[in-house]
Amino acid sequence: MAAPAPQQPQLLQYSVKLLFVSEEQLLGGLQLANPNQKALQLAVQPGEEDADMTVTDVCVFKCLVNRDKEYCRVGKESVLITLGYNSALLQFKSHLEYSTFSNALKRCQNQKKEHSAFNQRTEEASAAQYFQFYGCLSQQQNMMQDFVRTATYHRAILQNHIDFKDKVVLDVGCGSGILSFFAVQAGARKVYAVEASSVAKYAEILVRSNNLSDKITVLSGKIEEISLPENVDVIVSEPMGYMLFNERMLESYLHSKKWLKSNGMMFPTFSDIHLAPFSDEQLYMEHYSRANFWYQQCFYGVNLSSLRSAAVDEYFRQPIVDTFDIRILMARTVKYTVNFAEAEEEDLHRVEIPFVFQMMQSGLIHGLAFWFDVAFVGSLVTVWLSTAPTEPLTHWYQVRCLLQTPLFAKEWETLSGKVLFIANKRQSYDIQIVAVVDQTGFKSGNILDLKNPFFR
Ligand SMILES: C[S@@+](CC[C@H](N)C(=O)[O-])C[C@H]1O[C@@H](n2cnc3c(N)ncnc32)[C@H](O)[C@@H]1O
Repeated sequence: MAAPAPQQPQLLQYSVKLLFVSEEQLLGGLQLANPNQKALQLAVQPGEEDADMTVTDVCVFKCLVNRDKEYCRVGKESVLITLGYNSALLQFKSHLEYSTFSNALKRCQNQKKEHSAFNQRTEEASAAQYFQFYGCLSQQQNMMQDFVRTATYHRAILQNHIDFKDKVVLDVGCGSGILSFFAVQAGARKVYAVEASSVAKYAEILVRSNNLSDKITVLSGKIEEISLPENVDVIVSEPMGYMLFNERMLESYLHSKKWLKSNGMMFPTFSDIHLAPFSDEQLYMEHYSRANFWYQQCFYGVNLSSLRSAAVDEYFRQPIVDTFDIRILMARTVKYTVNFAEAEEEDLHRVEIPFVFQMMQSGLIHGLAFWFDVAFVGSLVTVWLSTAPTEPLTHWYQVRCLLQTPLFAKEWETLSGKVLFIANKRQSYDIQIVAVVDQTGFKSGNILDLKNPFFR
């Protein structure tokens, strides 16, 4: 069924007294409109994200009120709107008239939030759970204590200090604010630290207690919804999830480029996701044994076996988060790059990674293993943060996706196919894998739910 066409919001009419005021007048004590002043007609046309306001009988006043427009209530029934260096005072007939006007403005401002890129792509329940998780200091601590992660960010920023010296920086999803502090240590003149979860209040406390309130401004809200007073030279963020893409925060990172100056820098600059076929009989059997619980025909007298195949499907839909010995890998990796300086949010709605692996050993292929690296390309050095199985372990581990049916391949044969990541509204991806041994035609695949990984 097609969605109903949106209704055009109604034109609202008010009777107001209008007074233009300068700063001097405000400082000298504001004389409100005199009682004999003639009332004028104010027409307000609420739009999707703003409201067009015009005094219609004589065109003395016309302005567009959006999220960035500064205005405030004065007394019970007046509103003061900033127009450049001057202001306009609109005095309504009554408090009720003022309220309907103010509610109309609030409604169209909230609409922007409802329609924000984040809200459009995210179910409310998922967002609530996600930001509740990141609102906990213990979760922030967990990330901060990942030494490889935090020390690499520190090194990448400080070793490229000339990219930060006297620069304006945006920290997307600042959490505790740790990357904002690094940017200041590297010489940043100003950092806007944006955080949507309630941990923003703790970031603010840290900024104040470290006497950096003049340098770091914490903005509480989603990057897709907040407003910055200026464009920035550098954007820093740590938006990587399991298998790189989980959480869909990369899209928020890409969205934030609307605040980046044309020659600005992205830190990290790009990411490579690597994949390779692996052989791991034990892992495969473990999954089957778990599902075999449902094979029982007399569990306290109940036959569970009709659910066994559903249980197998469910277990195999779970990507496995753990680490492994690289000797299980059966071919050289295939790599897919996401360039944060060039990519758009939409590029991450559907990511297709084609592969052709040349097998380096004969045996059963049980699935594909994944990990990622990110690179910080600075003016002085390029620093890499790697989650590869050959490198020290991070809190991202590596991720493996099983094939429901293992494939036999001989050395020198080729395994070709593709991995498809399809974004969903639960801030994650549905993953489809198809793979075929070209020389024999043996084919297998799987569909997995990245939102529901198995931590082994
Ligand atoms: C992986 S944590 C990184 C925290 C911190 N930057 C660090 O490196 O320790 C990501 C943070 O981004 C926040 N976040 C995620 N999406 C966001 C969005 N759209 N707008 C603002 N903050 C967001 C989360 O609440 C979380 O605190």
